[in-house]
Amino acid sequence: MELWDIFDRVRQPQNRTAVRGSIISKTDFHLIIHAWVRRKSDNKLLVSKRVPEIFWGGYWQPTGGSVKAGEAGKDAALRELREELGIKADDAQSTLLFSYRFVPPEPENPSFFLDCWLFEFDDVSQKLEIIPVLQKEEVADARWCTFQEIIDLWKNGSFMPFETTWQPYFQVLQKCLQKPGSIFSLRAWGAAELQTTKTTTPELDSSLLLSHVLGCSRDELLVRASDKVSAEDALNYAKLLYRRADGMPVAYLTGRKDFWKSSFEVSPAVLIPKPDTELLVELAAKLVEARAHALSARPQSTQPETLNIADICTGSGCIGISVFQEALDLHINPVDMKFVLSDISKGALDIAQKNARSILGENAQNISFVQGDLLEPFLAGAETPQHFDIILSNPPYVPSAVTDELLLDGRNEPRLALDGGSDGLDIIRRLIPQVWQALNKNGILLIETGEYNAAQTAELLKDSGFIEIATFNDLGGQPRVTQAKKP
Ligand SMILES: C[S@@+](CC[C@H](N)C(=O)[O-])C[C@H]1O[C@@H](n2cnc3c(N)ncnc32)[C@H](O)[C@@H]1O
Repeated sequence: MELWDIFDRVRQPQNRTAVRGSIISKTDFHLIIHAWVRRKSDNKLLVSKRVPEIFWGGYWQPTGGSVKAGEAGKDAALRELREELGIKADDAQSTLLFSYRFVPPEPENPSFFLDCWLFEFDDVSQKLEIIPVLQKEEVADARWCTFQEIIDLWKNGSFMPFETTWQPYFQVLQKCLQKPGSIFSLRAWGAAELQTTKTTTPELDSSLLLSHVLGCSRDELLVRASDKVSAEDALNYAKLLYRRADGMPVAYLTGRKDFWKSSFEVSPAVLIPKPDTELLVELAAKLVEARAHALSARPQSTQPETLNIADICTGSGCIGISVFQEALDLHINPVDMKFVLSDISKGALDIAQKNARSILGENAQNISFVQGDLLEPFLAGAETPQHFDIILSNPPYVPSAVTDELLLDGRNEPRLALDGGSDGLDIIRRLIPQVWQALNKNGILLIETGEYNAAQTAELLKDSGFIEIATFNDLGGQPRVTQAKKP
């Protein structure tokens, strides 16, 4: 049963005859782990003779064998290498090349899944000592071959009898290792590889990943479509593609996400900024603009009051930093503003701080970063200012059950950033009275919520005494941001 963990991916679903997640008796199939070892210096692959009782034949073939109960695919590949060839590959760079296929059981043709890892060695002389832990002759023939030599061995029948059905797997390996394609062909191949996965945007994802690896824009990919891509870049691209296929979002793979007018650094410590959240920035920018007009209408002699703005639950800092930028564009003097970006997560605040520095440069020094639970550090007097003119927040608001479902797709976003308890309102219920305390008279709250709890949020705000409550729809027509004023 434990074996099923390693099939929790959606590669080649058309090849499956077993339903994902269903329990199949271990006697129904045989899992083959393949570990390819690539010597980086000359791009050669290691092939060794296999042990008859682990596999069903004494063919020449890449190292391979069976997974043991409870072992994940990579663990099995590492063990195989260690036990059979004495290669300590634990620290070696590795890529999941995929691939598995379920063949209906026949007495003389055991059913199997295949799971294949590619290990790369920088300095193979140190890591590769062939230890004959098994019969000497079983490993004595291990040798380095070019990809073409393996194909030739296969063609003349002295290598394992690859079935035609294994062809796609070989093609992928070849693409990864040997045949640097053109930008055009790699992009098309990547999009096709992602076609059967959960992403709804395979073309876009493959372009974003390829442009990231090549360090160019997506437009340049089109202009340079016939340029050849080096083997190194092609392999790095393939690695990212397979992680994308496993659900990792493009933004975490490239480390960046465009939001509003800037590119933000992101990591799995922060929620990836969503386009819907730009509505909150747009509304906040209008409030700041109104404030700028009010300031400019004052007599010159009057001291301008400081505009205090807080972005609570800041994550990557995308809301607060974007609003700060808007204020600068409105020629509000940075010294007339106090911006506070706060989050409970230290990891998130570190990213927010980096983003502020890289996007705002010197002006980032006008922002303070506070780690804490919602507005508590301010209400407790531990941080200044204690009162704000505008409070912005995109708190965790997703109901726990929906969060569980969302996280199943391998998106890797922090539960802390999403989970708002059973109805998604746990944090919002605590936040609203704190906002009431922390807002100045006529102060405004802008809060993002889910389409499923926007109405309840507006109700909670009304019950707490807020006035001029209005909920705004995002571009998808869903109620997304609620504005409320403290009278
Ligand atoms: C939905 S994310 C919003 C991130 C960012 N503002 C955005 O719009 O992309 C919510 C953020 O709230 C933070 N958070 C969760 N619970 C918190 C709490 N009790 N106090 C402060 N921040 C909290 C999480 O760490 C996460 O960064």
